[in-house]
Amino acid sequence: MGSISSAYITTLLMILLCTSSSMLLVCEGQQLTSNFYDSTCPNALSTIRTAIRTAISAERRMGASLIRLHFHDCFVNGCDASLLLDSTSSFESEQNAIQNINSARGFHVIENAKSRVESICPGVVSCSDILAVAARDSSVAMGGPSWTVNLGRRDSATASKDEAERELPLFTAPLDDLISLFGRKGLSAKDMVALSGAHTIGQAQCFTFRDRIYNHTNIDAGFARKRRGNCPSTGGDSNLAALDLVTPTSFDNNYFKILMQKKGLLESDQVLFNGGSTDDIVRSYSNSRSAFYSDFAAAMVKMGDIEPLTGSAGQIRARCSVPN
Ligand code: HEM
Ligand SMILES: *[C@@H]1O[C@H](CO)[C@@H](O)[C@H](O)[C@H]1NC(C)=O
Repeated sequence: MGSISSAYITTLLMILLCTSSSMLLVCEGQQLTSNFYDSTCPNALSTIRTAIRTAISAERRMGASLIRLHFHDCFVNGCDASLLLDSTSSFESEQNAIQNINSARGFHVIENAKSRVESICPGVVSCSDILAVAARDSSVAMGGPSWTVNLGRRDSATASKDEAERELPLFTAPLDDLISLFGRKGLSAKDMVALSGAHTIGQAQCFTFRDRIYNHTNIDAGFARKRRGNCPSTGGDSNLAALDLVTPTSFDNNYFKILMQKKGLLESDQVLFNGGSTDDIVRSYSNSRSAFYSDFAAAMVKMGDIEPLTGSAGQIRARCSVPN
């Protein structure tokens, strides 16, 4: 009797949670857990790590590219690997969204990690979990913080280019837009600043910072001049420059120091330190690498928890680029 009534109450609670909460993560009644594959695929995480480490030692920038993929996945219908799907007859790939096209990269590294995992445990480990683990392993490989990755996400059968264009920030976004885009995902302004610290590694193309280096005044003059050297006012759209000009391949808190010198590469970087509400957060991270590390790690976990498909929702894709 006691066990029946407690099961009854649990069921009732679940129904209440499902109907009263806007957060999809409680709706399936299953939360992500760090030990999700412990019995079904105990070598999943080490297999992924080997694939990621190999790719980053072949090309150091890959660590940056993979962290970005997880972000661009999670902001569009949750962390469901929708970003990885190629176009089909029923939807256009998110990879064609303005924020991703000719820019998001590293897909082959995730597909390679997936095929290694498939060979040891077929049909068990989702592409969305591989993205989350790859982001953490990339941070570690680049000298950044580590964290425990929550697991148990499942993959979508569809994608939305329109949703990607609505939800992903643009490099021209003013501070208010950045705060509200992240706010919609349950991430605070502080989370947003910490996560932007991922721009301590990686590269951007000339077309993303041209207007800033030719037309803007909230930029260090010598820095603007130097960047114009490899980014002409017309042409050279895909020429690369480091987002953190001093230590572009190591994950440190230098990004925040350069913002304080008006040497942010993107307009969306510099707005974080431009006399607005986030100046103090930038200042504190520039003074404390450890504060940045712990806030970045916590924010990555929070971002990784955005609207996952769990339980029997979605699927475990056989290949990350195509729905089953
Ligand atoms: C706050 C709003 C953000 C905007 C507007 C933004 C925009 C951009 C742009 C325009 C690029 C250069 C892309 C290119 O030129 O091909 C870039 C690169 C990058 N972004 Fe962001 N980003 C934002 C936040 C984030 C967040 C939250 C993360 C991860 C947690 C992230 C990680 C990266 C990384 C690592 C790169 C370098 C990628 C590479 O070298 O392949 N960004 N971002
Ligand atoms: C500078 O701004 C003007 C006016 O918005 C624009 O037409 C021009 O293309 C910009 N120049 C560069 C190099 O981006």
